[in-house]
Formats: sequence, structure tokens, C-alpha cells
Amino acid sequence: MRFLVGSDHAGVGLRRALAAHLAARGHDVEEIGPAREDERADYPDAAGEVARAVARDEGARGVLVCGTGIGMSIAANKVRGVRAALAHDPVTARLAAEHNAANVLCLGARILAAPYAVTCLDAWLDAAFEARHQRRIDKIAALEGSGA
Ligand code: RB5
Repeated sequence: MRFLVGSDHAGVGLRRALAAHLAARGHDVEEIGPAREDERADYPDAAGEVARAVARDEGARGVLVCGTGIGMSIAANKVRGVRAALAHDPVTARLAAEHNAANVLCLGARILAAPYAVTCLDAWLDAAFEARHQRRIDKIAALEGSGA
């Protein structure tokens, strides 16, 4: 599978660890974001790039890392077709796949130690969407682009 792994400056180290883990699992991985932590980068930039790529390609998935994962999830969810989930542990990561068909996983580099974040990533990767939740996913899609 194709993975786009993006971060801002706060997420560079974790982004690299997650990208290396995905590559070791045999996936096609592209990294988006600054090369170093001292290179300031605004999280909506990487979120937009990753989210648009995922929205264009059914076969692609995204992983986004910032300090908390919160900014990345808010920004990525602005893109139609993207269901970005912020996970804090392997249970929420697994449920994001099983219940919410999350096509983007967001993680906080200042919240999770890298080895624990890798277990979250694996929990998401190894889980499958449960079709009984499809009606809710359709309702999320119906909300896209709606205003007040
Ligand atoms: C950057 O300092 C920080 O605000 C960002 O990485 C993220 O945590 C935002 O949600």
C-alpha cells in the first residue's frame, strides 16, 4: 500500500520512525515535511498535502504527526473524503479503522514515545473496517462541505 507520512517541525523524529517502520513492513512510503526539527513548518501545510493525496488515491493512506496530533487531525478533516483520526493508544487506533474507516492516522510526537506510537500504527494497519458501520460513514460524507 502507498503511505504518505507528514509532519511539522515537532513531528520530524516520530515521522521518520513511523516511515521507516512502514517501509520495513514493505509499504511504499513518501515523507512530507521539514528535514529537521529546527526548520519551522506549519502543520496545515503537510496535513493538506497528505490529505489531498489520500483523497485522490483510494489505495493510499496517510499518517500525520505534529506535537499533539490535534492540529493535523483538524486540518486533514477539512479535505473531502478524508477521515483523519487522532489516536492516543492502540485501542483508539484499532477502533479508528474498525468503526470509522480512518484513512489518515494522526499521532502526537509530544504525547507518545516513538515505540508506543509504532504499536498504535500497527494496531491501525492490522485492523479492518467493519461493514456494519457503513451507514455512519455515509452520514459523515453527507456532512462534508455543509455549513450552518
Ligand atoms: C507546534 O508547536 C504545535 O502547535 C503543533 O505541532 C501541534 O501540536 C498542533 O496541533
